Amino acid sequence: MRVNFKIWRQESHQEEGSFKDYSVDNITSDMSLLEALDYLNETLVLKDEKVVAFDYDCREGICGQCGIFVNGRAHGPHDNTTTCQVHMRSFEDGQTIVLEPWRARAFPIVKDLIVDRSALDRIIQKNGYITVKTGGAGEANSILVAKKDADKAMDAAACIGCGACIATCKNSSASLFTAAKINHLDHLPQGKLETNERVMAMVSQMELENFGSCSFTGACEIECPQSISITEIARMNNLFLKAKLTKE
Ligand code: FES
Repeated sequence: MRVNFKIWRQESHQEEGSFKDYSVDNITSDMSLLEALDYLNETLVLKDEKVVAFDYDCREGICGQCGIFVNGRAHGPHDNTTTCQVHMRSFEDGQTIVLEPWRARAFPIVKDLIVDRSALDRIIQKNGYITVKTGGAGEANSILVAKKDADKAMDAAACIGCGACIATCKNSSASLFTAAKINHLDHLPQGKLETNERVMAMVSQMELENFGSCSFTGACEIECPQSISITEIARMNNLFLKAKLTKE
């Protein structure tokens, strides 16, 4: 099949970007979208042109490293799917496919389709972990966790930090990401001990990083590759209120 890529090209955060058109033949429907970009890059190398920069690691929907707006949707045409799991059979022969980087003030463009998502790392650095001494594996296994709590913790811990929730949100809110990281620890006895400090610190950092506020449109949970529910946000808000009341 032949596709027409319309791709955002931008050398750096400081420089202006623009769309550039590329017509690519010999794409097969079994190729992933990222493989089609690899193929495009091979043709650009042969023509001595600059390759398109894009992010990825596992290409299995696990690591959260990939993330592109495809025809105006975060990660592409399917709900709850990472960019690397989109295949060319999702598109028509001759179709124009528009590729853009995540658009959010807190995600400056590094180059072409790559953005800097270190704002998410800085949220995690603010108590997004457990400091209590939990001992070795033997001691950890001796702390019993109810199945329902373990399941809830795992549901939240499924977040791969891809940033699609933020990119697709009209407010560029990082609430779903932050809520998932707070809640997965709060569901466990080892994590619960520090919930008050954690929720205050992580929510404050989220605001410092220029993410917007959540207005519960629900767009985030549709694009989230792990189908993390916006009820996680309501739960985080509840924990935040409790922490604030306890403090004051
Ligand atoms: S490359 Fe790892 S989730 Fe897409």
